[in-house]
Amino acid sequence: MTPKLFAPFDLAGTPLRNRVVMAPMTRARNPGCVANALTAEYYAQRSSAGLIISEGTPVSPEGQGYIDVPGMWSSEQVAGWKRVTDAVHADRGKIFAQLWHVGRMSHSSLQPGGAAPVSASSRPVASSSKSFAFIYREDGSRGTAEPSQARPLETAEVQRVVSDFVEAAQRAREAGFDGVEIHAANGYLFEQFLNPVTNDRTDAYGGSLQNRARLILDTVDAIASRIGSSRVGIRLAPNNRQFDMPEYAENEASYLYLANELGTRDLAYVHLNNNFSHGESALDEAFLRTFKRAYGDVVILAGGMTRESSLRLVEEGVIDLAAFGQPFIANPDLVERLESDLPLALPDRATYYGGGAEGYTDYARAT
Ligand SMILES: Cc1cc2nc3c(=O)[nH]c(=O)nc-3n(C[C@H](O)[C@H](O)[C@H](O)COP(=O)(O)O)c2cc1C
Repeated sequence: MTPKLFAPFDLAGTPLRNRVVMAPMTRARNPGCVANALTAEYYAQRSSAGLIISEGTPVSPEGQGYIDVPGMWSSEQVAGWKRVTDAVHADRGKIFAQLWHVGRMSHSSLQPGGAAPVSASSRPVASSSKSFAFIYREDGSRGTAEPSQARPLETAEVQRVVSDFVEAAQRAREAGFDGVEIHAANGYLFEQFLNPVTNDRTDAYGGSLQNRARLILDTVDAIASRIGSSRVGIRLAPNNRQFDMPEYAENEASYLYLANELGTRDLAYVHLNNNFSHGESALDEAFLRTFKRAYGDVVILAGGMTRESSLRLVEEGVIDLAAFGQPFIANPDLVERLESDLPLALPDRATYYGGGAEGYTDYARAT
């Protein structure tokens, strides 16, 4: 019998040919912030995934933290992305766009008018070699930079950010995406609001857990009412510590609150990113089961997934879909390799970000 992982799946009305998902991965190969022919070729090569989630695509220039990343705020960008979705659909693939706002993980040189990046508060990102924006330097070269001091969004501006997400979701649909994934993981804007250490607000978006989660739920609701809830997914990283996101007492409670709330909204899915998949604070199976029970709908899991773990977790119903990141970089035919139990090629980290075809579209198929 076909293992469940390779069996078709109905994702809230979007038919997937298997339950293997390509996780969102920024590749930063788009000067001008527009997806191009090479981007289309890269995604088309990976279209046997049941579902592709695009690299994070900023909803506005304000939402950018890294140069050369294709965005979703202009008609030129929509036309660029249309090449990608057409190429994926030509091979019967499905693709969601990951909508992104980095919040304080930005640099004033990337911001309109050289302004300060925005966040929930003015708490700076602690200095670390791992917490950087990626910018064009004054001499035109590319490089990392410490994030600039952010300013808290005014209460009245918060709804403007929500609207930026709604407009980007609409554009994503115009560009042919089957749906959108709200990027509420990995230390960016939504986590900066959710985490009480980075959110010291005294308005309706700060203080209680319900208030800190409000931006996430407002955005989900606003996008769902524009493009339909079945076209909306969301990514969360309940154990994220990346980019100076300190631990807090209500961490688990926050995510179970979100699970309950999101579970009433008929979304396409919740996508959990297990950020410490190889470390001691990995999301354990007990948490996954509790989360799934509270949410009650489709759960995708990413982070250190292997053939063995994905087959088992999907078979046992702990999760519904299994997402792979790095394995998809080096194995365009990952699904076929998993199905035939063929060895996987290893990706070259040196070509994860930036550059051209090398390390991007030149990984060979084995099948
Ligand atoms: C090069 C690279 C870029 C990434 N970019 C994103 C991104 O844009 N959005 C996101 O949510 N996660 C991003 N991630 C995280 C992946 O989606 C995934 O969760 C992570 O790599 C763990 O899965 P893996 O062990 O299968 O690689 C990125 C990871 C890598 C390696």
